[in-house]
Amino acid sequence: MPFHDEAIGAQEVSPAQPEIMPTKERMLITGGNPLEGEIRVSGGKNTAVAVIPATLLCDEPCTIENLPDIEDVRALVDILRKLGATVTYVPGEFMTVDPRPAEGSKVGYRDSQRLRASYYLLGALLGRCGQAEVAAPGGCDIGPRPIDQHLKGFRALGAQTEAIGGRIRIKADPLEGGDVFFDMVTVGGTINVMLAAARARGTTTIYNPAKEPHIVDLANFLNSMGARVRGAGTDVIRIRGQQSLHGSTYTVIPDQIETGTLMIAAAATRGDVTIHGCIPTHMESLTAKLLEMGVKVTDLDNDAIRVRTIGSHRAVNIKTQVYPGFPTDLQQPMSALLTTARGTSIVQETIFEQRFKHLDEIARMGAIIQVVDRTAIINGVPELYGAPVTATDLRAGAALVVAGLMAKGVTEIYEPEYIDRGYEHIEEKLRSLGADIRREPVD
Ligand code: EPU
Repeated sequence: MPFHDEAIGAQEVSPAQPEIMPTKERMLITGGNPLEGEIRVSGGKNTAVAVIPATLLCDEPCTIENLPDIEDVRALVDILRKLGATVTYVPGEFMTVDPRPAEGSKVGYRDSQRLRASYYLLGALLGRCGQAEVAAPGGCDIGPRPIDQHLKGFRALGAQTEAIGGRIRIKADPLEGGDVFFDMVTVGGTINVMLAAARARGTTTIYNPAKEPHIVDLANFLNSMGARVRGAGTDVIRIRGQQSLHGSTYTVIPDQIETGTLMIAAAATRGDVTIHGCIPTHMESLTAKLLEMGVKVTDLDNDAIRVRTIGSHRAVNIKTQVYPGFPTDLQQPMSALLTTARGTSIVQETIFEQRFKHLDEIARMGAIIQVVDRTAIINGVPELYGAPVTATDLRAGAALVVAGLMAKGVTEIYEPEYIDRGYEHIEEKLRSLGADIRREPVD
């Protein structure tokens, strides 16, 4: 099928379809135990899912350390192996990818549906072999998630793009640096263009890029392989493409969202938790809101945060923003916490259209919430009560865990598999802090 150059609008790329996940297990939480103690945060999910495909750009083996042992990482291992790469993965230790035997450039529907970040194979394979065919990605169903900006970016690098039959095909001959102006700030679009541009001829300039910590981490990883990426974390990123990239050993940054979820859970249970191995500067927007609520948050030695609550919480307003604003990924656990804060909290979700599905579930537990379009009005209640609830996406699942930890009685969370996409060993970690949480099979 020939490639064509016509602009692909948002509506032409299928939005993410929720993966069919039959209920196999449920999580049981008996709430009320204050979380107490010390915990180490895992490596960043949204960094890991960019860095692993980036190894395909290299001409030698790369070793990545501090990867979280989560479903998204396991899915990428399978995809890289199917493309022909040799992958040695020791969960909790390291992953070594030798991309040299990889000859494939296609990722099929079943693999692509396993995670949102399968779309990074587009940028990585385009950079590696000048072409890619990847089925439209899966991932959490939190509203339409078009990738028109990614494709616009690839076209600025000389690629032809085509979205047809649920597949995205791109091809560039040659792949050449260019100027990319994003119409909106997009994490995925920024990462995808960085990946392709690292191996393009000449210089690529990305205007209006995302500035999230994982953008900077990917730039650091690419630079460790000999790439020339400058300006990551600022308003303009410049990438001077290289003909070849050498092997590297790299440690990914700690997970900003897991850190935040643990901070929120500590506050929710009126606990006292010290989270080690995190980067407190990445947490500033959450820390500011927790302080406003009356939670005690202390940075320790630039790589640990202590969170304590004595007494009740005050309601606060939240508006999700791109980094360094309040992250949409923490909106869901944070809104669970706000259901028992004194007063009325207003939560505005500006990034994704449907990121309030968890609130219907938490309402079953006694929360009083009204949702109008992308705004949730939460009237704090003294207590939540355990109930059967269903996780509808990854962070919705995290929100239900927070709600379950603070509720009276037993909360049953169905479809906890969503949580496994992004949180490493969540039950073990919470149990080590005193939570009563376990999983059991469902008939
Ligand atoms: N958008 C477009 N066109 C595009 C790209 C994005 O219209 O071509 C829109 C999206 O629909 C959305 C907004 O722009 O309204 C921002 O989307 P973005 O591209 O920044 O998000 P993403 O790359 O799909 C990543 C994370 C998400 C996280 C967001 C925002 C990965 C794999 N996913 O998604 O993580 O919420 O950035 O920070 O890195 C999660 O971890 O639970 C999660 C959903």
